[in-house]
Amino acid sequence: EQIEKGGFDHFMLKEIYEQPLAIKDTYRGRLLVDDAIIKMVGVEDNMKRFLNADRIIIVACGTSWHAGLVAEYIFEDLARIPVEVEYASEFRYRNPVITEKDVVIAISQSGETADTLAAIKLAKSKGAFVFGVCNVVGSTIARETHAGAYTHAGPEIGVASTKAFTTQITILTLIALRLARANGTMSSSDYRRQLQELELIPEKVAEALKADKHIQAIAETYKDSRNMLYLGRGYNFPVALEGALKLKEISYIHAEGYPAAEMKHGPIALIDENMPVIVIATKKGHYEKVVSNIQEIKARKGKIIGIVTQGDVSVRELADHVIEVPETLENLSPLLTTIPLQLLSYHIAVLLGKNVDQPRNLAKSVTVE
Ligand code: G6P
Repeated sequence: EQIEKGGFDHFMLKEIYEQPLAIKDTYRGRLLVDDAIIKMVGVEDNMKRFLNADRIIIVACGTSWHAGLVAEYIFEDLARIPVEVEYASEFRYRNPVITEKDVVIAISQSGETADTLAAIKLAKSKGAFVFGVCNVVGSTIARETHAGAYTHAGPEIGVASTKAFTTQITILTLIALRLARANGTMSSSDYRRQLQELELIPEKVAEALKADKHIQAIAETYKDSRNMLYLGRGYNFPVALEGALKLKEISYIHAEGYPAAEMKHGPIALIDENMPVIVIATKKGHYEKVVSNIQEIKARKGKIIGIVTQGDVSVRELADHVIEVPETLENLSPLLTTIPLQLLSYHIAVLLGKNVDQPRNLAKSVTVE
């Protein structure tokens, strides 16, 4: 097992560090920057179904559901296709309206999640076209869907999902970009820029990972907190949810993710000097508004950990700590802002002596209802 961990203390840390390569493996052979082409067989072969779709319904559970939420922003913003994101467990039991004109995308790392599988079967029975985004090759969901694309992230052993999440976002970005070009939503120059920026993401993830030691020191400061709040807006709202989930899963500290502006409709009541608030405040994406949310937290003496763009000044002045990530396009920012949140949870859990790779009560794959 020591050998399998490749010199890392835990599988989770190894998998966090594998992300530059995993993302590259996800776009390898699909992202052809020089030719300005995205090539994905499962999408090309079914282009008509995608282009005729009234909407896309995404079904998933857990971290994969968070990737689906990011995809909602991506598909609507870049390709102007309406998207609904559903917890598979709710979707399957609520007599949903599905027609032959719907495209359903099922996201699952393991490809074995019982609720997601049931949602797929239901959608198929109503005539929808079902596309799978799985990591495990040959898994049940990969076989049960009409077509799909593998993330090629390699085996994920840690129960708390890390590289599966970022590679899911990568593949969903590729699909959205391909559709945006096919349906004429995106200009060829914007398309080219998107492709170029996506290609740079692995090295920017590697850059974000360099904050590891700094994050470990922040973890030391906050490891005894009883609650933590994660805030983000737009593309980074789902990242806030995922950050909170990571912390809950492995450190057993109660954490909540919230859209930053919704803070004043509830969570702000919880803020005092004992509440660390992690705020994703990257330059592109409602920056000024998030800064004013930070001011509100500060006025209530909350401890602020800002996830910011390299070179940021305004948040640094207000926050107790900042963690920098490289600059990128707004729609690609979740691939970077996720990294410090994974590391923060990891270090807190390790400092608390928790079983990081196999947290209590959780399973890597939930194959029963
Ligand atoms: C379990 C795992 C999570 C995962 C979720 C969905 O809860 O612990 O990490 O996100 O299942 O799994 P899937 O394999 O369908 O992505």
